[in-house]
Amino acid sequence: MAETVVSAVSLTKAYPMGDSKVEVLKDVSFSIAECEFIAVYGPSGAGKTTLLNIIGGIDKPTTGQIIVLGEDLAMQNEDFLADFRCNAVGYVFQSYNLVSTLTVAENVAFPMEWTKRPAEEIGKHVAELLETVGLAHRTNHFPAQLSGGEQQRVAFARALANDPPLFLADEPTGNLDTKNGQKITQILQMLKSKGKTVVVSTHDADIMRLADRTLCLEDGRLASKNE
Ligand SMILES: Nc1ncnc2c1ncn2[C@@H]1O[C@H](COP(=O)(O)OP(=O)(O)OP(=O)(O)O)[C@@H](O)[C@H]1O
Ligand SMILES: [Mg+2]
Repeated sequence: MAETVVSAVSLTKAYPMGDSKVEVLKDVSFSIAECEFIAVYGPSGAGKTTLLNIIGGIDKPTTGQIIVLGEDLAMQNEDFLADFRCNAVGYVFQSYNLVSTLTVAENVAFPMEWTKRPAEEIGKHVAELLETVGLAHRTNHFPAQLSGGEQQRVAFARALANDPPLFLADEPTGNLDTKNGQKITQILQMLKSKGKTVVVSTHDADIMRLADRTLCLEDGRLASKNE
């Protein structure tokens, strides 16, 4: 049987708002097996980004349990989570989140520098990653000198830098035109064929077609599990 990569049990997330609270996730339970490609969809504000942030160790649930790659994330301290985010998970954010003062190559090198890989190995791997996402000709550009589609591909290259087993992408084609969206879909297809576990928040029909299974979030609840 395939190993479980993500196990979420009765997750809730609530933010205090004055005397009351906003419940963003409500009793969300699911599990994701190794090599599965999962599409998470649902209306704006349904909690998709919040859920990905919890799976990626960026945010903690208010209650409930989240076990990712065997680690009970809600119980871990920030030092552990920083390493986990760098080694175990590749995360492409809804708004690329590139470091504006670093070049394309430096942005992609960043996770490998964090894990202290040798400099010559980093340089070689950066070149390979930029080749993979079709941006070898933009190595020394800064993010502001790139189109949205190019920035998104840099974000993918950075997320792939440490070859993480789990890949998360938050509406990766949401701000892109069809042609740039297709380039991202091809990268996701490549990850799927390499046997990565992938969780993508998306409304894109092409990405949905890659999914083995979908999770629909509506107002913080899991509305359907297409198993
Ligand atoms: N720090 C916060 N404090 C209070 N409410 C928050 C906070 N962060 C998020 N929310 C609320 O949580 C809800 C879910 O937000 P989230 O970003 O997860 O939605 P989403 O499904 O990703 O939406 P979109 O499709 O627009 O990206 C929203 O209603 C939002 O206002
Ligand atoms: Mg979102």
